[in-house]
Parts: sequence; structure tokens; C-alpha cells
Amino acid sequence: MARLDTIECRDALAALPEIPDGFANLLLTDPPYSSGGMFRGDRNVATSEKYQTNDAEKKPEFLGDSRDERSFLRWSCLWMSECYRALADGSSALVFTDWRQLANTADAVQMAGFVYRGLVVWHKTAARPQPNSFRNECEFVIWASKGTIDRHALPGAKYMPGFYEFAAPSGEARVHSTQKPLGLITALMEIAPEGGIVLDPFMGSGTTAVAALQTGRHFIGCEMSKEYWAIANRRLTQVSGGGCFVDG
Ligand SMILES: C[S@@+](CC[C@H](N)C(=O)[O-])C[C@H]1O[C@@H](n2cnc3c(N)ncnc32)[C@H](O)[C@@H]1O
Repeated sequence: MARLDTIECRDALAALPEIPDGFANLLLTDPPYSSGGMFRGDRNVATSEKYQTNDAEKKPEFLGDSRDERSFLRWSCLWMSECYRALADGSSALVFTDWRQLANTADAVQMAGFVYRGLVVWHKTAARPQPNSFRNECEFVIWASKGTIDRHALPGAKYMPGFYEFAAPSGEARVHSTQKPLGLITALMEIAPEGGIVLDPFMGSGTTAVAALQTGRHFIGCEMSKEYWAIANRRLTQVSGGGCFVDG
């Protein structure tokens, strides 16, 4: 999976070991949360049911979203450990999660070897109100690093916020049921050096890849679902004006 600007249609666990040690400069990824409930039965519900309460048209199902707590933790440790190896020293890891999987994801990041640095909040601006309840209107990005971070206030140092407000994609722009806003991914990516390599093993509709291309960075990554892999490559082709960024 070390081919630059390419999304491979593969299982991340098979593809990640092919990346050379220290190759990438940022892990920015949105794995399947295996969420939508506290029990395995809840999680086995189709992703279009779990994550699309309001849309008339259902999006294709995506993969790997029905693990129970313990298998989610173990699986997360496996892929995160490979990502740790594939990152350069001092690089950041940004991993999306929701309130249900926050604890597991923070544990997995540390078990994989990263230094847990903090939590970035994404305010989604909309969420279902429920009687006598708080709205779950935020998702979270676990921020971690491979070893120490350069904290010198030198020219070019990045000063990143800890809170972002972006509406989730809607209408024609929404092609994946848990697609992240392009503006949010672009803003988070600022932490990576310009021209650096951004790794996303769970590309979905390719938002990370699009943001990388548009900001002068490289991407590597994969997506196991053929349908979403094709959608991601369509988006990339539109952004690149017909260039070839696909992997057959
Ligand atoms: C939460 S979605 C990512 C959505 C993406 N951020 C976007 O904006 O479109 C996670 C994706 O990971 C894919 N996936 C699940 N298990 C995988 C695996 N083992 N290897 C590669 N991709 C996988 C799913 O099919 C799904 O599309």
C-alpha cells in the first residue's frame, strides 16, 4: 500500500504491513465505529439503518461495523499498531470516534504505542433531540503522536484549535452514510507538513484523499468495499481533472 495517491480496494489489515517503516507523516482516519448501540444485536443492524435516519435514499452498506466491544478493541489495536510502525517519528495520529467508542479507541491508541495527547471535538450542528436527554451532537477525534512532538515556537509552527463546527454532508454531496465534511478533514490535515503523506486505511468515499490532493499533500490508503472504493475514485477523478489515481 505504499503507492502514493492511490486507494487500494483491500482489507486494511492485509495492506498496512506493506508500508515501509516511518513512511507516512499523518494518520487521519475514520474507522467503522461498530456503534449504533451497546450490544452486538444493535451493531448487527445494517449501516444504512443505523446511520441514516432521515434520508429517503439509502446509501450502500459499509463493512466492518458490527464488532462487539472486545473484538473492536483487539481489531483496533492490530491496525493501529501497523499505523504506528508506518508513521515517521513525531507524527500525529487523528482517529475519529463517537461517544460510545471513545474509551475503547483511546485505549487502543495507547496499546498500539502512541502517546495519547488529547481530544478534538467535532460539533456536527445537528442531532436528533430526544425527551429528557442531552443531544449527542458531537463526535470526537483522538489525537495521539508517535513519540515526542516538536513544541518549539519556530516559524511555520502550527497552532491548531481543539473544536470544529461543520455540518455533515447532505443532499447530493452525501455519498456515504458516515461521510465526514471535507472542510473538517481539510482543517485537521493542516497538522501534517505540506507535501507530506497522509495515511487513511478506511477511506470510505475518499474524503481524506480529496483533502490531501487539494492541499498539496500525498495520500495512501485503502477501502474494503468495492462500491465505496469506486465512489472514492470517482470523487478523486473529479478533483484531479481526470488524472489517474486509481488502483485496479
Ligand atoms: C466510517 S467509514 C469512512 C468514511 C469516510 N471518512 C468518508 O468521509 O467517506 C469507514 C469505512 O471503512 C471501510 N472498512 C471497514 N473495514 C475495513 C477494513 N478492514 N479495511 C478497509 N476498509 C474497511 C468501510 O467499508 C467504510 O467505508
